[in-house]
Amino acid sequence: MNKKITLSVIKADIGGFVGHSSVHSDLLEKANEMLGESNLLTDFHVTHVGDDINLILTHGKGIDSEEIHQLAWDVFIACTELAKKLKLYGAGQDLLGDAFSGNIRGMGPGVAEMEFVERKSEPIVIFMADKTEPGAWNYPLYKMFADPFNTAGLVIDPKMNCGFKFEIHDLIKNKKVIFNTPEELYDLLVFIGASGHYCVKSVFHKDTGDIASTSSTQRLNLMAGRYVGKDDPVCIVRCQSGFPAVGEVLEPFSNPYMVSGWMRGSHSGPLMPSSLDKCNPTRFDGPPRVVGLGFQLAEGKLIGPQDFFADTSYDNARRKANEIADYIRSMGPFEPHRLPLDEMEYTTLPLVMERLKDRFEDID
Ligand code: F6R
Ligand code: MG
Ligand code: MG
Repeated sequence: MNKKITLSVIKADIGGFVGHSSVHSDLLEKANEMLGESNLLTDFHVTHVGDDINLILTHGKGIDSEEIHQLAWDVFIACTELAKKLKLYGAGQDLLGDAFSGNIRGMGPGVAEMEFVERKSEPIVIFMADKTEPGAWNYPLYKMFADPFNTAGLVIDPKMNCGFKFEIHDLIKNKKVIFNTPEELYDLLVFIGASGHYCVKSVFHKDTGDIASTSSTQRLNLMAGRYVGKDDPVCIVRCQSGFPAVGEVLEPFSNPYMVSGWMRGSHSGPLMPSSLDKCNPTRFDGPPRVVGLGFQLAEGKLIGPQDFFADTSYDNARRKANEIADYIRSMGPFEPHRLPLDEMEYTTLPLVMERLKDRFEDID
């Protein structure tokens, strides 16, 4: 039997430089140094998008491995100590627990992991976002795996036109459901259109059952019970030979669609595809960013990255995102720029409500 490899992307915001805009290079160095010393990994790549550190790890330990999660946790703790020394902003903000208890899920950091047998050639894309939430992947995953106007292979590739299975998570009630596409497209869309509530956890090839994509789906505020920033999710996509081509996987980001997050995690704004050297949210702590890094896996080694959104073909998406930003910013504190009230429940709004609650009288 072919040996399986595990690809784990584990991320956390453990201190911003400056404010919530970026990560200090000392923290990235520290993470590189610690992962380099570990003998658990086949390979690793450390990067950042905005104020989040992303650890991209390959290994043979399977998903939810205590050793791998412990390693990531230790890296984040060591980086937090450094962040505290440099007095970086919000040092340790995503680490909710004091002590590691076997699995990093539910402790603050975001996790996306998949285990699979490496194919003859294994192109993958890792998307990493800042200033937005896990539901931000719903629209592009739908386009990649279910929209024939985006993905030509759904129509003309015999290895793909069986369609895909979508595993959807209800983040509020903690339930999951699987929809088959194309036959259950409309049912799928009823749910994933509400991206603050339902999100696409994973996608599978319908014939082979092979995993095609998985993402981080935790909602930090629901876990912490208070506002601790947006989740800034990550998503892994396998490409080519029965999965969407790299270009089909990147295509949805040519439209800077609207996501929740941005300033104070409380605003709707365009998701701007960015290159690694331009992924520091600046204007109004944004607009929300997405970086797409490509790797070829070779016996678990990460050959890459290819910084896809550095390409000039994403210039129009960035220009359009800036135009949308100009327009929607003009709304100031009014909805729909500001998120609706139920989405504000986990921001600092309840504190304002608490102060004013005695001022409200019954209307006769
Ligand atoms: C959004 C984000 C920032 C902060 C904002 C206020 O995810 O992290 O927009 O919410 O800069 O930050 P505090 O409350 O730390 O001053
Ligand atoms: Mg932050
Ligand atoms: Mg962030």
